[in-house]
Amino acid sequence: MSPRSVARRLPAIISLLVSGASFATAACECGYVSSADSGSSALFTDLLETDFLHLEDLSTNTDWAAQKFNLEKADARGKYGEKFTPDNLVTNAISDSTKFTGEGEDGGDPGLILTVSNGLEEGMVPSAEISSDRLDMFYGTYRAGMKLTDVDGTCAAFFWYFNDTQEIDMEFLSTEFNYDNDTYPVNLVLQSREAAADGYDAAGTNDFAKVDLPFNPTTDFHEYRLDFITDRVVFYADGQALATMNGSAVPTSAGHLMLSHWSNGNPLWSGGPPETDAPISVSYVKAYFNSSNTQRQSDWENRCTDINAVNATCNIPDVTADNNDAATFFFTQQENMTVNQTVSGQDSASHRSVAPLTYVIASSVLYVSGCLFGVW
Ligand SMILES: *[C@@H]1O[C@H](CO)[C@@H](O)[C@H](O)[C@H]1NC(C)=O
Ligand SMILES: *[C@@H]1O[C@H](CO)[C@@H](O)[C@H](O)[C@H]1NC(C)=O
Ligand SMILES: *[C@@H]1O[C@H](CO)[C@@H](O)[C@H](O)[C@H]1NC(C)=O
Ligand SMILES: *[C@@H]1O[C@H](CO)[C@@H](O)[C@H](O)[C@H]1NC(C)=O
Ligand SMILES: *[C@@H]1O[C@H](CO)[C@@H](O)[C@H](O)[C@H]1NC(C)=O
Ligand SMILES: *[C@@H]1O[C@H](CO)[C@@H](O)[C@H](O)[C@H]1NC(C)=O
Ligand SMILES: *[C@@H]1O[C@H](CO)[C@@H](O)[C@H](O)[C@H]1NC(C)=O
Repeated sequence: MSPRSVARRLPAIISLLVSGASFATAACECGYVSSADSGSSALFTDLLETDFLHLEDLSTNTDWAAQKFNLEKADARGKYGEKFTPDNLVTNAISDSTKFTGEGEDGGDPGLILTVSNGLEEGMVPSAEISSDRLDMFYGTYRAGMKLTDVDGTCAAFFWYFNDTQEIDMEFLSTEFNYDNDTYPVNLVLQSREAAADGYDAAGTNDFAKVDLPFNPTTDFHEYRLDFITDRVVFYADGQALATMNGSAVPTSAGHLMLSHWSNGNPLWSGGPPETDAPISVSYVKAYFNSSNTQRQSDWENRCTDINAVNATCNIPDVTADNNDAATFFFTQQENMTVNQTVSGQDSASHRSVAPLTYVIASSVLYVSGCLFGVW
């Protein structure tokens, strides 16, 4: 909790002390609250946070799975296939855990690097993708810090996915970035290529928007965010709302989070393949959400004995254009702010509710989503 919000609560805390009101046994046990400043305020019971700037080895992080599969040319609907390989996922940690800027240990941008390689392998473009282990992510505020590539011809995507008609994508086509007139669009999509292939013109609906970012996304890390709350989805860049979508394509199920970076040479979408290796860097993912898992729901009910108790809920600090401090704040790096949460690297009874094998099968079926809109 920021000093400012603590100060704001001080009178309430004092009166609670006087009246002998209850205290939470551990902070945030009733959940995490997104502020009303950037959309409507909502409470979320669960979290997933990954500090990729300080992650040395992706395989040790139980919240994420590196994706490995081939998409042949016909299925990729481009000039070439796509080869998603863990070889194109490289961690480049900052050795000093207290520093959040500067080069990674291998030099260059720090974080998790997702590369689209120059050159084909068996007719496919080497690409990269990770998927969250958890599949129970329902309403939530989903945030990723990323620095995008200035190499022409790739599609970078941060997306939430359930199936081809229930997905929320932020898709960045490097070929659309225009350095001459300083225009950097992001494609915001609430629907699938299947729906589009059926003649549904998303561009004319409330389910698609191409919006210019308020900055050049290739020169620095920025926060990309999608809030999925009951009847609507709001997209943000550095805390600034880009678009709100509230049509019938707003998902109604729980899903999972993915980050991907690929190319298939389709001139109408990804363009490319890139003429040099094209890296994007992910500094963090922070997800605060309600779980669809009944065990997680009853865990919340059991630990949240008094939602009005002092510190029972915690405010999620927001990254804004003027304030990047929130980017380096993680509840999971504080003492006692994630009690009874599933946190990578910490023992917990309910971790990995989905067996890895099932997950691999599910994810290779489910992956076909981010960025494929408009590709045929
Ligand atoms: C954290 O909370 C637990 C109760 O959930 C308590 O036993 C423990 O002392 C707390 N630790 C700190 C450092 O506050
Ligand atoms: C999330 O779940 C909690 C507990 O059930 C509930 O109070 C809250 O309103 C839910 N949030 C949203 C956005 O529905
Ligand atoms: C996605 O899931 C929803 C809800 O279960 C279902 O109605 C819809 O038909 C599914 N879409 C696809 C493409 O399977
Ligand atoms: C910048 O140039 C591109 C390509 O010509 C064009 O599509 C876009 O509308 C321009 N943007 C602005 C703000 O002028
Ligand atoms: C979507 O939001 C707009 C603007 O607030 C509102 O006019 C419209 O009725 C909403 N549509 C639905 C389906 O809720
Ligand atoms: C509430 O949490 C803040 C931040 O962790 C802490 O400084 C404060 O002491 C807590 N208040 C109470 C009453 O536990
Ligand atoms: C949360 O607490 C409940 C009750 O003690 C326990 O059964 C459950 O395994 C815990 N879950 C996590 C993720 O720690």
